[in-house]
Amino acid sequence: SWTTGNVIEEQVAAIREQVGDRRAICGLSGGVDSAVAAALVQKAIGSQLTCVYVDHGLMRKGETEQVEKDFVAATGVQLKVVDAEERFLTALKGVSDPEEKRKIIGREFIRVFEQAQAEIIADAGPAVEFLVQGTLYPDVVESGGGTGTANIKSHHNVGGLPEDLEFQLIEPLRKLFKDEVRMVGQELGLPDEIVQRQPFPGPGLGIRIVGEVTKERLDLLREADAIAREELTAAGLDRDIWQCPVVLLADVRSVGVQGDGRTYGHPIVLRPVSSEDAMTADWSRLPYDVLAKISTRITNEVADVNRVVLDVTSKPPGTIEWE
Ligand code: XMP
Repeated sequence: SWTTGNVIEEQVAAIREQVGDRRAICGLSGGVDSAVAAALVQKAIGSQLTCVYVDHGLMRKGETEQVEKDFVAATGVQLKVVDAEERFLTALKGVSDPEEKRKIIGREFIRVFEQAQAEIIADAGPAVEFLVQGTLYPDVVESGGGTGTANIKSHHNVGGLPEDLEFQLIEPLRKLFKDEVRMVGQELGLPDEIVQRQPFPGPGLGIRIVGEVTKERLDLLREADAIAREELTAAGLDRDIWQCPVVLLADVRSVGVQGDGRTYGHPIVLRPVSSEDAMTADWSRLPYDVLAKISTRITNEVADVNRVVLDVTSKPPGTIEWE
């Protein structure tokens, strides 16, 4: 019968067999799937695995630290962190078009990841022949069920994979559904903040700022987003909503009155949705008192924000993200 214990044991044995005394690389995104896949492979081959985390500066508050500190503490994994914030911000300078942003972020991500990869391969040590991927069963079905290929929708993975992939793939989660992956992650001792994380897009906050992406705007959005997440968690609503993008309308200003007088600030949009698979979604009917609390806190605590609005659009016609 299916138990997380069995799955872990089976996978650990299979991975040991597959890798032998060679080495593997795994990209961590901060999301559940790559974290659980990495933890499983770490359990199997220990220091023969190196994880790479590209910090593109577009993560939410505390997320990079969760990977760098909590994930490493929980797994003992060997982690290479690349601080690429400046590089991404420079590449995104002056860009407002959503597709253009996505392309730039994807392109830079591949470049940074490949460079990190090359450095790992170049260091003394056994051959690096494997790439770990957090592919789940629904991804396998969607992409036609092939094995050992690098066929992944670019939409769902920052940048996807290089065309001339020379690695064999290790995909220890390819028979599992999301809830099973979370159970395996829990059994492996990963922190709740990672195991229970809701979906978050690869391009991160870069596609939640309508307008140009700047450091100041990212910092502002990080604050607003952290407040919304904190209040949703405090209200016990995390399991009722699929995710709640928080969006900064950086190109919009409206008049407000705060403290001593008139303000001319930006709106923040709350986009709480319920969904089964993100293909369709409905806007979540959040309790008014929770919305009120979030609104009051954001307008009080986040400089330059004087209005909070609620997105009441289902998908379709709206997408979950604003860009
Ligand atoms: P949309 O906005 O298309 O989003 O309704 C559907 C789901 O996909 C997530 N999303 C992404 N995930 N890379 C990702 O890894 C991306 O580029 C990306 N774009 C959207 C979104 O958060 C939602 O869960």
